[in-house]
Amino acid sequence: MKAAVLYEIHEPLRVVDLEIEDPKAGEVKVNVGAAGICLSDHHFMEGTGTTVRPVVLGHEGSGIVSEVGPGVTAVKPGDRCILSFVSHCGNCTMCQSGSPQLCLTNRATGVRQFDGTTRLKDGEGQAVHQLSKISVFAEQSIVPAQACHPVPADVPLEVAALIGCCVTTGVGAVINNPMMKAGATVAVFGVGGVGVNVIQGARLMNASRIIAVDIKREKLDFCKRFGATDFVDASKVDPVVAVRELTGGGVDMAFEVFGSGKTIAQCVDVLRPNGTAVMVGLAPEADRASLEVTGIVRNQKHLMGCYYGSASPHETFNKVLDFYQRGLIDISGQITRRYSLDQINEAFEDLVAGKAGRGVIAYS
Ligand code: APR
Ligand code: ZN
Ligand code: ZN
Repeated sequence: MKAAVLYEIHEPLRVVDLEIEDPKAGEVKVNVGAAGICLSDHHFMEGTGTTVRPVVLGHEGSGIVSEVGPGVTAVKPGDRCILSFVSHCGNCTMCQSGSPQLCLTNRATGVRQFDGTTRLKDGEGQAVHQLSKISVFAEQSIVPAQACHPVPADVPLEVAALIGCCVTTGVGAVINNPMMKAGATVAVFGVGGVGVNVIQGARLMNASRIIAVDIKREKLDFCKRFGATDFVDASKVDPVVAVRELTGGGVDMAFEVFGSGKTIAQCVDVLRPNGTAVMVGLAPEADRASLEVTGIVRNQKHLMGCYYGSASPHETFNKVLDFYQRGLIDISGQITRRYSLDQINEAFEDLVAGKAGRGVIAYS
């Protein structure tokens, strides 16, 4: 089967034929349905995020179960699934304390399956790893059964794919945050694939203002239909000054959805006293933020990280599916570009160029 493999950083992904094993105990083989193009994958291509190589990237995806390994009862062949990019072991302290999105065993095993071994081989017989255990930049994948979240047959596979990362990450960051109150003022720094969904989450929570901040005009124009009420072009004005002016002194909630120390500091700076800054974007691993620390203390500001929507991904998938089916959030409208797997490098060039909306790899 065909897959896009990262062999070296700063090099294009190579679309090659790989051998795929049968699913082992607790695993599932899927025909990948669709895969979203997310900035997190690009970090691994650039070396600003580290991973074992060679590796098949792709952590935002959906699939149809083709085969189940021994002991799998949760899904069966033919099931259409959202694929979670965090599979939970159920036994570690994070899983047991109700935070399966932070599963320690998942982290420890990383780009290998839970038993610590791999399922893919290239033409030279070299083991190929799987990003997030799901590696959806491939026609087929072996995934832990825990990654699979079945959806009704009328949910398009590309919609299910986006729920796998950007929708759940973005909407979840807002609706699962205990500091988020109805009528809050909200700023969103970075209104790309994930940021648009933070905007939709803020709309669901009846935010009174949803201020979009980005450096690309195209992105600011695009996010209006998802509920943004105000627009700040950070390439032209100081976004901290602009957001503080728009709100008469600062916002209740600021979401950082680009991933950089600089924008994280800006999110803290635009808060009104008692406000909360939520870090959603993944910055380059070496990045640091310079924070005005006395301001945080005197104004009782909060700064928190948020991974995969801050809750069990499966719980948020269910909520997001319900919002989608009731027409409360728009997912199909986020997809503006479709590519074949052979066009994957072009898909990443378009992401980095700042084209609005999400790109997806569509598999037939
Ligand atoms: N200020 C505000 N916005 C910015 C800035 C800046 N200084 N620099 C870049 N941006 C905008 C980009 O123009 C883009 O619209 O941030 C947005 C990022 O969106 P995408 O490129 O679509 O990335 P996305 O897939 O949404 O990922 C966002 O979340 O999952 C993490 O690793 C991922 O860190 C990444 C973040
Ligand atoms: Zn992602
Ligand atoms: Zn665990």
